[in-house]
Amino acid sequence: MKLFSKTIFLMMAIVLSMSNNSYAGSAFGSAEDILFANKLWSVMSANKLVGKQAKPLKPFFGGAKPHGMILELAYQNLILGNNSGFIVVKRNYDKDGATVESVSKNRLKYLSSITVMYQRETGYDPENLNWFWAKYTPDGTLFTKGTTPLAGKVAKGKSREETKGCLFCHSSAGGGDYIFYPQIKLPGHKYGR
Ligand code: HEC
Repeated sequence: MKLFSKTIFLMMAIVLSMSNNSYAGSAFGSAEDILFANKLWSVMSANKLVGKQAKPLKPFFGGAKPHGMILELAYQNLILGNNSGFIVVKRNYDKDGATVESVSKNRLKYLSSITVMYQRETGYDPENLNWFWAKYTPDGTLFTKGTTPLAGKVAKGKSREETKGCLFCHSSAGGGDYIFYPQIKLPGHKYGR
């Protein structure tokens, strides 16, 4: 009997600690989000958007918070499973000594993170153009907020914490496409003006 209640207690403690570890009620970082982010990483690698074989692009000085100092941008259509969606990949070179010149000579030395937005299937997140968000380290693992991986609808909701996430900040980008750089146009999007 004693052992039984001890077991129950232990199980409750585990469940509680698990829920504490995840970002309260978050719409991102679930097992499905992680799986999708991993698949996306391998498709991006195969398309030479990320990884050791990544196509070199034209590094430029960005310097806007919260992203990196020296940046490279790639955008195109990308097929993942049976979804064909637009993707914007931003490589952020933030390590000490990163300049346009040094990065051009040795990208892997200065690469600090890769931020990605990928348009998923209809119905994924209809209020937000079905964008899937992720922030990867150079080897393809995900950055975390606390212990919650930054992948999925980061961070859907209106609490103070959530409004620091990708989604909320990008919703203020002009044109209603969640994309800041005006030269990047989302195919099929109606730009009123
Ligand atoms: C506080 C505002 C803010 C937050 C939070 C933010 N971004 Fe951005 N993001 C920007 C700005 C401003 C730019 C354009 C300038 C630059 O590149 O730094 C940008 C550019 C980008 C781009 C290039 C496409 C574009 O919009 O022009 C991608 C991709 C991107 N961010 C992904 C992410 C991801 C993924 C996250 C979350 C992990 C995130 N961003 C969080 C402000 C933000």
